[in-house]
Amino acid sequence: MSINKEHDFGTPASTASQLVTLEIDGFQVTVPAGTSVMRAASSIGIDIPKLCATDSIEPFGSCRLCVVQIEGGRGMPASCTTPVSEGLKVITQNQKLAEVRRGVMELYISDHPLDCLTCSSNGDCELQDMAGAVGLREVRYNPVETHLNVVKDESNPYFSFDPSKCIVCSRCVRACEETQGTFALTIDGRGFDSKVSPSQNQAFMDSECVSCGACVQACPTATLIEKSVIDHGQPEHAIVTTCAYCGVGCSFRAEMKGEQVIRMVPHKDGKANHGHSCVKGRFAFGYATHKDRMTKPMIRASIKDAWQEVSWDEAINYAASELKRIQQKYGKDSIGGITSSRCTNEEVYIMQKLIRAGFGNNNVDTCARVCHSPTGYGLKQTFGESSGTQDFDSVMKADVILIIGANPTDGHPVFASLMKKRLREGAKLIIADPREIDLVKTPHVKADYHLKLRPGTNVAFINAFAHVIVTEKLMDEDFVNARCDVASFLKWETFIAQEHNSPEATEAITGIAATEIRAAARLYASANNAAIYYGLGVTEHSQGSTMVIGIANLAMATGNLGRVGVGVNPLRGQNNVQGSCDMGSFPHEFPGYRHVSDGETHQLFENAWQAELSAEPGLRIPNMFEAALDGSFMGLYCEGEDIAQSDPDIQHVHAALRAMECVIVQDIFLNETAKFAHVFLPGSSFLEKNGTFTNAERRISPVRKVMSPLAGYQDWEVTQMLANAMGYPMNYSHPSEIMAEIASLTPTFAGVSYEKIDRLGSIQWPCYDEESEGTPIMHEETFMRDNGKGLFMLTEYVATHERITRKFPLILTTGRILSQYNVGAQTRRTDNVAWHSEDRLEIHLHDAEDRGLKTGDWVGIKSRAGETVLRALISERVQPGVVYTTFHFPESGANVITTDNSDWATNCPEYKVTAVQVSKVSQSSEWQEKYHAFSENQLDLLAQGVHHD
Ligand code: SF4
Ligand code: SF4
Ligand code: SF4
Ligand code: FES
Repeated sequence: MSINKEHDFGTPASTASQLVTLEIDGFQVTVPAGTSVMRAASSIGIDIPKLCATDSIEPFGSCRLCVVQIEGGRGMPASCTTPVSEGLKVITQNQKLAEVRRGVMELYISDHPLDCLTCSSNGDCELQDMAGAVGLREVRYNPVETHLNVVKDESNPYFSFDPSKCIVCSRCVRACEETQGTFALTIDGRGFDSKVSPSQNQAFMDSECVSCGACVQACPTATLIEKSVIDHGQPEHAIVTTCAYCGVGCSFRAEMKGEQVIRMVPHKDGKANHGHSCVKGRFAFGYATHKDRMTKPMIRASIKDAWQEVSWDEAINYAASELKRIQQKYGKDSIGGITSSRCTNEEVYIMQKLIRAGFGNNNVDTCARVCHSPTGYGLKQTFGESSGTQDFDSVMKADVILIIGANPTDGHPVFASLMKKRLREGAKLIIADPREIDLVKTPHVKADYHLKLRPGTNVAFINAFAHVIVTEKLMDEDFVNARCDVASFLKWETFIAQEHNSPEATEAITGIAATEIRAAARLYASANNAAIYYGLGVTEHSQGSTMVIGIANLAMATGNLGRVGVGVNPLRGQNNVQGSCDMGSFPHEFPGYRHVSDGETHQLFENAWQAELSAEPGLRIPNMFEAALDGSFMGLYCEGEDIAQSDPDIQHVHAALRAMECVIVQDIFLNETAKFAHVFLPGSSFLEKNGTFTNAERRISPVRKVMSPLAGYQDWEVTQMLANAMGYPMNYSHPSEIMAEIASLTPTFAGVSYEKIDRLGSIQWPCYDEESEGTPIMHEETFMRDNGKGLFMLTEYVATHERITRKFPLILTTGRILSQYNVGAQTRRTDNVAWHSEDRLEIHLHDAEDRGLKTGDWVGIKSRAGETVLRALISERVQPGVVYTTFHFPESGANVITTDNSDWATNCPEYKVTAVQVSKVSQSSEWQEKYHAFSENQLDLLAQGVHHD
C-alpha cells in the first residue's frame, strides 16, 4: 500500500488579491499576482521537476532542475523564482529542457550513494522521483572526489543526519530560518566543499536546534530522516488528527503501518500550524505504547492493599456501588468528579453530565481551575465571552506585540514561530516578565522593551501602563464611545488617572523604571494594531482575575479589539483547556458558560437529560479537598488529571486524597493520584479514540482513532459504562452523537457537527447555525455582553499575602520548558528526557554567591508550606531576588512549596509567587524521602496484584 502524500505546489501561495492570467503548455490559468510559474503550473496538474523548491519555504533557485522556456523570452529561467505575469506563455516540456534537466540530475546522482533499494527513503525520496521524472538511466560522470564517506550525525534521538546523501539544496536551512525561526543550520564552504551543518559544525544535539523537525520535513532525500522510519520502514496509510499536547492544537497526519505509528507529520492544511510542529507533537508520541501503560482495570479496598486486576464489569460495578454507598452514608453531595484539559470535548461533556444528572450534584471541576479560570472570569465580565479574541494568524497583522507572563517558545512553540516571523518582518515587541524568556533576544528578534517586573505585581504594572495612556490622552475615544459602556469607562478613566497608579508611584512596587513603562505604553498605544498575548504568569496569582480585567480594559481603551491584528489572546496551556471549560466542567456552569441557577437553561438541561438537576453551584477542586478533610466529601472520580502532582500545597492534597473512601482514577499510567486510588480504570491515549479538541483560538479540531484502545475501550465509553452502572442511562454509539447533543443544547456550538469539521478541517466557535463556518475574530461589531457593550472594571492593586521576609527572602516563580509537558507523565516516557531529565532551580549569580552555591549543587528550597530539594542552575535569566523552576518531575516536589494562596474570584492557585529561602544541602528533603518510600510501596502493591498474561 502506498501512502497518499500531500501535494507540494513548489512555492508558497500568494495572498495578493489581484489576478493574473497566463498560458502554460497551451492551457490557460488564472492565479493571484506574485504566484510563481511553478505553482501556477502545479495548480493545473503540470508538475515541473524540482529539487530545491518546496511550498513551505520561499524559492531559492539553486538546483536549476525546474527550468522552463518563455515564449519571446531569453534563456531558461527557473520556474520557482519566476513570477507569473499577464499573457505569459510558458513551455515546461521540450527536448532542450529535458536535456538540461537530465544533465542537472546526472551531476547530483554522480555524488549520491546508489543504494536506493536499501535506503530508508526508498519510495519517499524526491531525488529518486526526479531521476525518474527526467528519464535518467545512466550517469556519465565518474567523479574523483565524492561525499560518500562522510560520517553520520546520530546525536538527535529522533532523526538521523547522513551528509553523504545531501544534495546541498538548502531546504533544511531555509526551513529552520523561515518556518521555525531558530537559524540553527548553515551551509559552509563553496562549490564541491559546501556542506550543511548546525552552526560551528556542532552535532545537532549540541547546537541551537530545538528538534522541531521542520528540516526533516523539508529534506527531499534521506539525509535528514526520522529514525522511526529507518527502524520500521515507510508508512502505508495516514490519518489526520490533532496533537494532544499544548493549546496550539497542531494538526498532524499520523502516518501508520497497520496499527503502528511510524511518524507524526505536521499537516499542511492544519489551520493552527500550517504544516509546522514542535518536538513534542512531532516526535514524542512513544509514550502511547510505553511499557508503563496500564491496560487492565484494578480495584482494592484500601490504599494499603495490593491492587487486584479485575474485569471491566467488576471494576465498573465496584466503582458504582462504592459511589452509591458513600452517597447513602454521607449524602448526595459527598461525591464528585474532576475532568481534565487532556480529555476530548465529548469526554468532558459526558463526565459533567454524569455528575450533574447521575450523581445529582454539581461537584465537577477541571484542571483549568489551576490555570486559566481567571481568564474565563475576567473576559466574561468585560467582553461577555470567556475566550481569546483572535485566531493565531492574526498575529501576522500586528504592529506591536505585548507579551505578558507567557513564554511562547517553550509553552506554545509553533505559535511562537509564527510570531517570530512577524517580528522579523518588523513588528515591535514588548515583554513583561520577571525572567528573560527566549524571545527577549533570539536570532533576528530583539524585544524593544523587556519590563522585568517583580512576581506578584502584575496589576500595579498594568495600571501604570494604562495610566500613561489615559493621562497622555492616547486612547481611542471613538472606539470607546461606540463600542463600550461609557459610564464604566468614565469611572475607570478617573480611577486609572489617580496618582497612585502612575509609573512613578508604582516603580517601587513593580521594580520597573517609570521611564521604561512610559515608553512601552506609548509604543503600544501608538500602534495601528497592537495585540496582547498572555499566559499563566498573568492568571496564577491572587489577583489573576483582576489582571485579566486590566488587560481587557487596556485593549478596549486603545480600540485594539474586533479586527485582525489586535486582541486579547490567552495562550492556553494544555491541548483542550478551552474545550474543557466550554463543555461545562466548572461547578457553577452548564456547557456554554451558563449558570446552573439560570431558570431557562436549567429547565433546558433537565428536559434534555431527563433528570432533576441541582441549581446550586458545586464544589471547586480546593473545596473538595477541604470537604474531604472535614469528612463530608468521600468519593472522587478523576479522569485524566494528576491532582496529586499538579495542584498546589501538595501535602494538603495528599491528606485529602487519603481521607476519601473511594478514589477512582481513569488514566493511561498509574500516575501520582492513582497511588491514592481504590479503583483504576485504564484510559486511552489520543491515538486510540475519536473526539475533538478545542485549541486556544477556539478551534474545534478532529481527534481520530488511529489504533485500537490498548485497554479495550475509549475513555468516553468507560464514563458511559459507569453512568449506566450508577443507574443513569447513556447510550451513545459514537462521539459524533455526543457532539450533536452539545450542539442542540449550546447556542455557540449550534452549527458544529462532525460532518462540518471533517469538511472544513476545523471550526472556530461561535458557530451559530448550519450556514456558519465559525468565527476567527470575535467582537467585530458588538461585544458578546447582553447589551453588546464592553465593560470597564476597576482594578485596584492589592499586594499578595505572600511577602518576602527575613526567613523567606526570595520569590520562587515557576514555568515550563519546551521538551517537557506539564506533569511530565507523557514526555518523561519519551526520548525528550535527553533535553530535560530533571527540574532545576534557576538562581541569579548574586543570590548564589551569597549562599556559596554553584551550578549542580543540591539546594533546599523552603517555604511556609514545605521544603524540597533540587539542583541549582546559576542563571542570568532570573533577576536577583527571584528563583525559578519547572515542575515536570513528581520527585521535584515543586508543589510541596507552593502555598494555598489563590485568586480571589476563581481560586486559581498563586503558583507564580512563593516566598522561599534557598540553602545548600546534602540530602533530599524529609518530604522527598517520605514520598519516595510511599511511591516505592505503591509500585510494590501494584506488582503484587498484577498478573502478567
Ligand atoms: S529540527 Fe528544527 S530547529 Fe533543529 S535544525 Fe531542524 S529546523 Fe532547525
Ligand atoms: S540535508 Fe536535505 S534539505 Fe538539507 S541541504 Fe541536504 S538534501 Fe537539502
Ligand atoms: S506546538 Fe503544541 S500542539 Fe503543536 S506540536 Fe507542539 S505541543 Fe503539539
Ligand atoms: S526547484 Fe527551481 S531552481 Fe531548484
